[in-house]
Amino acid sequence: MSYIKEVLNDEYDGKSVHLRGWVYRTRSSGKLSFIVLRDSTGIIQLLASTKKLPENKYREISSLTIESSLEITGTLRKDERAPTGYEVEIEDYILYQRNENYPITKDQGEEFLLDNRHLWLRSREFTATMKVRSTVFKAFADFYFNLGYYEVQPPLMVSTAAEGGSTLFKVPFFDEEVYLSQSSQFYLETMIFSLENVFTISPSFRAEKSRTWRHLTEYWHAEAEAAWLHNEEMMQVEEKMIEYIVQEVVKNNSEDLQTLGRDIEFLKKIRAPFRKIRYADLMKMAEDWGLGLKYGDDLGADEERAIMVHFDSPIFVTHYPSYLKTFYHKPDPENPSEILCHDLLAPEGYGEILGGGERISDLDTLLKRMEEYGLEKENYYWYLDLRRYGSVPHSGFGLGLDRLVLWILHLNNIKEAIPYPRTIRRTKP
Ligand code: 4AD
Ligand code: MG
Repeated sequence: MSYIKEVLNDEYDGKSVHLRGWVYRTRSSGKLSFIVLRDSTGIIQLLASTKKLPENKYREISSLTIESSLEITGTLRKDERAPTGYEVEIEDYILYQRNENYPITKDQGEEFLLDNRHLWLRSREFTATMKVRSTVFKAFADFYFNLGYYEVQPPLMVSTAAEGGSTLFKVPFFDEEVYLSQSSQFYLETMIFSLENVFTISPSFRAEKSRTWRHLTEYWHAEAEAAWLHNEEMMQVEEKMIEYIVQEVVKNNSEDLQTLGRDIEFLKKIRAPFRKIRYADLMKMAEDWGLGLKYGDDLGADEERAIMVHFDSPIFVTHYPSYLKTFYHKPDPENPSEILCHDLLAPEGYGEILGGGERISDLDTLLKRMEEYGLEKENYYWYLDLRRYGSVPHSGFGLGLDRLVLWILHLNNIKEAIPYPRTIRRTKP
């Protein structure tokens, strides 16, 4: 038994091959039938004829509908007219399931395709997307393993909010309530005191009430935290990480990028270091571009889109005014109204894919900031303990992997980057 991709070469010309998969397309003309077979690796044209098959078997195979499953034996021949350059003349086959009325046809609406995502996943486009996604997840982990980081597993049912109350999911928990984790950051912070450098890839949950092209309620969050590193050093690791992931996709997924129409040459040019621009300077640039933004404005999807169409590589935006971000960011000692943080914005209009920075490591500063944000000390007793016992400078970040895939593949909506999107209006299938 072979995978289709393995036999798509001259070495198999004239040889007998054994393949299995699903019917992707069919075309029949009397005594000849053409079936395009699909498996996880690619497609190949099969030829069925009464010359090689008994009448009843020919009748059965020539009337197959798409997504029927079968296994075939036949002889492979080079044929330039075939969609992938080779054709197999079927000598025998086993039919696993004859398919009736596959619901997915051409030109169906978005909602229908979302309702039938479990079937739509079989499309060539989705298959390509999922392969790239697999490379992205692996590359992220490989990059940090290669740097000597430890992979850790935080809890996902939590009682301490990390990123503000407005996007918290509350879930009944026996006689109490818990939140679904918005970020593993605080738990990663607890682990740097023993492991120093840690990362995780976990789901994060946000009760995002607005429907935008880049928000999910459940998304995959790649986060890392490192003892001793300052904001600048953290960015230097991150830009290498992004370069590594993008170049791994270029190396391993060129066919998938082609299937999806993504410009490979553009991705090849994504190389560290990335430009680092202070928030205040970015606002000045935005003014020059006539975007109607001023210092102090928060940057949402629309603002970042308008800014990032001006760039063809990711940029770091640093030193946001403290009131635009969460409480735990370390104030800049030279200008405490701004913080030592960074967002990484993707080019071509995509905007934020990563947020990170240096954490407050001093107990009094943290307590003061929590008071400003109206947070109860008691809920954060364990987070505060980290500033009581052996506190060290440290930095970390969270990268939205679905957003990274969205940008790398130049997709229109984050729902195209994840197999089963969860949004305010969708929890099925
Ligand atoms: O910017 P955020 O909210 O930062 C944090 O959660 C930090 N605690 C991370 C850390 O430092 N460990 O989220 C980080 C990233 C964003 O840059 C974005 O890419 C992604 O998570 N993200 C989402 N992705 C999809 N849907 C959503 N609703 C998202 N919210 C954030
Ligand atoms: Mg953010």
